[in-house]
Amino acid sequence: MMTEAATVFDNIVKQRRSMRVYDANKPFDGEAVHRSLQRAMYAPNSSNMQMWEFYRVTDPEKIKQLAKYAMNQSAARTARELVLFVVPKAKWKQRAKANFEFHHARYGNKPLHELSKREQRKLKYFTRLMPMYYFQDWLGIWGLIRKLIVTISSLWRPVVWQVTKNDLRVVCHKSAALAAQTFMLSMKAEGYDTCPMEGFDSMRVKRYLNFPSSYEINMMISCGPGTAEGIYHDQFRVDEKEIIFTV
Ligand SMILES: Cc1cc2nc3c(=O)[nH]c(=O)nc-3n(C[C@H](O)[C@H](O)[C@H](O)COP(=O)(O)O)c2cc1C
Repeated sequence: MMTEAATVFDNIVKQRRSMRVYDANKPFDGEAVHRSLQRAMYAPNSSNMQMWEFYRVTDPEKIKQLAKYAMNQSAARTARELVLFVVPKAKWKQRAKANFEFHHARYGNKPLHELSKREQRKLKYFTRLMPMYYFQDWLGIWGLIRKLIVTISSLWRPVVWQVTKNDLRVVCHKSAALAAQTFMLSMKAEGYDTCPMEGFDSMRVKRYLNFPSSYEINMMISCGPGTAEGIYHDQFRVDEKEIIFTV
């Protein structure tokens, strides 16, 4: 028996479609975008490092330019707003510090030696483990050293294998994608449509928006009031028998 909330959620999930043509004449409330981004901030994310930033593009001239970089796709060209979900790789120190300060405050900002072993472990997670995990050199050599250490440790105990420079990119992009999906579902709940896009020239977009070169764009999401013509066909998914397994 589905709860009322599950029925509402089911409708939102099933009504969300990738919208390729937006209505230029219907009203569009930018506050719905803001609310949806606030909700996206609540998405689960790896170690609560919140390695994401969300950038709104509302200026029609900028949307026009970004649409050109998105191969002139109508999903971008006709958008009322574009939102970029970005992985700000260089921000890991700030995020680790923010987490440290949050937990240290929970423990009354006491000196470390006065804290319990469990509390100390929690703080060390952000002062020792996260730096060890997130620190990267340009060539990724440090990541390969970590991989070697992990491989040797794996002979005795279970280990987390995702420790190279590229593994870390996947870790961050997973979390950013969860925020993006939360945003899209929220926009549907607000009565608007969205289209996630990766078909764009990320180098040009980064340069145009003055993002640091280390930033990685996870997705560009167009939004606005949808149209019937903007849904190109019925939604298609392969049969659940090919997807859902119990092991
Ligand atoms: C990471 C990602 C990248 C995508 N890139 C594009 C894109 O560049 N252009 C586009 O029109 N749709 C893009 N899509 C939308 C998919 O084509 C769409 O989600 C898929 O066909 C299923 O359709 P539905 O979203 O309507 O269920 C992208 C979706 C995801 C998740």
